[in-house]
Amino acid sequence: MIIGIVAIARNYAIGRDGRLPWHYPADLKHFRETTTGNAVVMGANTWASLGKPLPNRFNVVLSGSSSVTPPPEVMRLMEKDEVVDLSRHINRDTYIIGGAKIYKAFAGDIQKWIVTWIPEDIEDADTFMPRDFLNDFVEVDSHELDGGLIVSTLCRK
Ligand SMILES: NC(=O)c1ccc[n+]([C@@H]2O[C@H](COP(=O)([O-])OP(=O)(O)OC[C@H]3O[C@@H](n4cnc5c(N)ncnc54)[C@H](OP(=O)(O)O)[C@@H]3O)[C@@H](O)[C@H]2O)c1
Repeated sequence: MIIGIVAIARNYAIGRDGRLPWHYPADLKHFRETTTGNAVVMGANTWASLGKPLPNRFNVVLSGSSSVTPPPEVMRLMEKDEVVDLSRHINRDTYIIGGAKIYKAFAGDIQKWIVTWIPEDIEDADTFMPRDFLNDFVEVDSHELDGGLIVSTLCRK
């Protein structure tokens, strides 16, 4: 299944200066535990900000540019449809892990969203989710992480 996973501020911010604008260890733990053992698909900018593959996951970087050269253990794909094809042939889930351009590219393919709601407004953010991105989804689960962050799971209606 193709699953989107994202952490979003109250004003729908997700990034600033190429990085996450916050640090919540409980959310990083949740992200690690949720995605471990599965495929993670990221855009070139998110790859640049990580700088190295996420351990114990099959890392895929989407980039149309030949100047993006991840190490051999990371698969670079150039087209969104190649990722969709890959997701059908692997025996694990495919997590779309951002950033904004990648979430937008896969908006019609994502069957489930896992959203961490960050209890802050990030006024100087430069990367946002569209306000309506969950319109076709219905919440099926909600739980609290350490520190009071809320995680919602939403499935396509
Ligand atoms: N809050 C969260 O959960 C979360 C999660 C992830 C990232 N972020 C934040 O989001 C920000 C980065 O987001 P972003 O939107 O700037 O960048 P991004 O989505 O990480 O990467 C965008 C790049 O990916 C490639 N790409 C995108 N769509 C493509 C397609 N359909 N086919 C081929 N390549 C495609 C292009 O690279 P080329 O130009 O090389 O072709 C594009 O410039 C950072 O601040 C990061 O920290 C937040």
